Amino acid sequence: MQPTADRTEWFPIMLRMEGARAMVVGGGDVAANKVRLLLPTGAQVHVLSAHLCPELHDLARDGTITHTPHDATVQDAPNWLDADSYRLVYLATDDAALNGALAALCQARNIPVCAVDDPAVSSFITPALVTRGRVQVAVSTGGAAPVLARRLRARIEQALPAGLNRLADFMQAQRGWLGQVMPDTAQRRHLWERFLDGAGGQLGLQGQTAAARRELDTLLENHPTQGEVWLVGAGPGDPDLLTLAALRLLQDADAILYDNLVAPEILNYARRDAERIFVGKSRSRHTLPQDDINSELVRRAQAGQRVLRLKGGDPFIFGRGGEEIETLVQAGIRFRIVPGVSAANGCAAYAGIPLTHRDCAQSCLFMTGHARADGSISLDWQSIALHNQTVVIYMGLSALPELCARLMERGLPPDWPAALIEHGTLPDQRVVVGTLATLPDQAATQTVRSPALIIIGEVIRHRVLPAHADAP
Ligand SMILES: C[S@@+](CC[C@H](N)C(=O)[O-])C[C@H]1O[C@@H](n2cnc3c(N)ncnc32)[C@H](O)[C@@H]1O
Repeated sequence: MQPTADRTEWFPIMLRMEGARAMVVGGGDVAANKVRLLLPTGAQVHVLSAHLCPELHDLARDGTITHTPHDATVQDAPNWLDADSYRLVYLATDDAALNGALAALCQARNIPVCAVDDPAVSSFITPALVTRGRVQVAVSTGGAAPVLARRLRARIEQALPAGLNRLADFMQAQRGWLGQVMPDTAQRRHLWERFLDGAGGQLGLQGQTAAARRELDTLLENHPTQGEVWLVGAGPGDPDLLTLAALRLLQDADAILYDNLVAPEILNYARRDAERIFVGKSRSRHTLPQDDINSELVRRAQAGQRVLRLKGGDPFIFGRGGEEIETLVQAGIRFRIVPGVSAANGCAAYAGIPLTHRDCAQSCLFMTGHARADGSISLDWQSIALHNQTVVIYMGLSALPELCARLMERGLPPDWPAALIEHGTLPDQRVVVGTLATLPDQAATQTVRSPALIIIGEVIRHRVLPAHADAP
């Protein structure tokens, strides 16, 4: 399978090396780099090479590594590979063909092998590492761009505080007793997150163990038994439009209930083991009725979960967020609301259409074009069909002919500008620009699909094409 944007053939793991045998073939500086990586793990490192660089020579002399003064060949490799069991082998000779042949022998014996600078013949590769004692951050580009990995490592290096190891040591020391007084893993995770987000994190970094322990005890005493619900706007599609709050809560949530308008890439930002529950609602398909969604939120929060209700755009703009909050209030569940970029803002910006303009639009109206079952729409058309106003219509695609007809009946001219934005802010965004008279036909002939937003008003004449937008 070819690696793609969200696929890679490399699986990241941490390998226990303490006491295990590791072979390094080659005696130069590259081999020395690998030996240097292995030694802090407590591995028993054996080097195979007729010549050793000064660093490896010193390590062999003082017994830190063992050494066979012989250059490996394909003929004798089976002897030493079969004689000892190696947890891994590094091939660091200058001879790429020899490295390749030796790698094949290792692979045939299922011994993890890395031929330096040759991922194609390797079964593992070494990531760029940022180390703070037991805390390690590994960066890999799957062997494609080691220089890029090193650049990223340098950035992470700058961002990570020096005391991380102290903090990790403190947390390790508390695990035993905390596991006994708080056996529920999710509850323990919540407690640690509150500790790290509060004063505890800093105290641990500074090595103030007693004060950090007092902080942990206080949090434990006041730990809420009930969970909570976070009602979060995911924006109109482009993950770049997520708020920082949404991003953080995505990392903290135990369960995520999401709609069909939430772009799949956005769920990639969630904690890996968070439950993801699709409750998608669309005009024709109600996967879970609203009442069931409301009770699911309550049930999960009462069971102690931190539930993220993720909605497309903004939860309070045609998002039924108000109804969900009312249910939570009635059930006495704690909640938080995080606004999102609504489709109107996102689509207008990515299509280059200002929503207001000093010369022609002093107000902007957000309305729904959702028709009743009989196809009619009951609205105060007189207050909508105004000349100095922009009208943004959500959920109006299927009623577009009816909407345009009503606006013309109420006095807007047939050549009044109107636009449709399909899949706004997403890579396949399309913008169709026309007039009240032409837009319904344009939508039909160009097969515009949901989600699509309608913008009506003279602001469309002020459209400028930003980098994201396609041509009309
Ligand atoms: C149920 S409403 C939800 C609106 C959402 N809460 C918001 O603030 O954007 C769904 C409608 O929003 C509009 N919409 C949402 N995302 C869109 C997008 N990426 N492009 C175009 N229209 C979108 C469409 O009109 C769609 O039918």
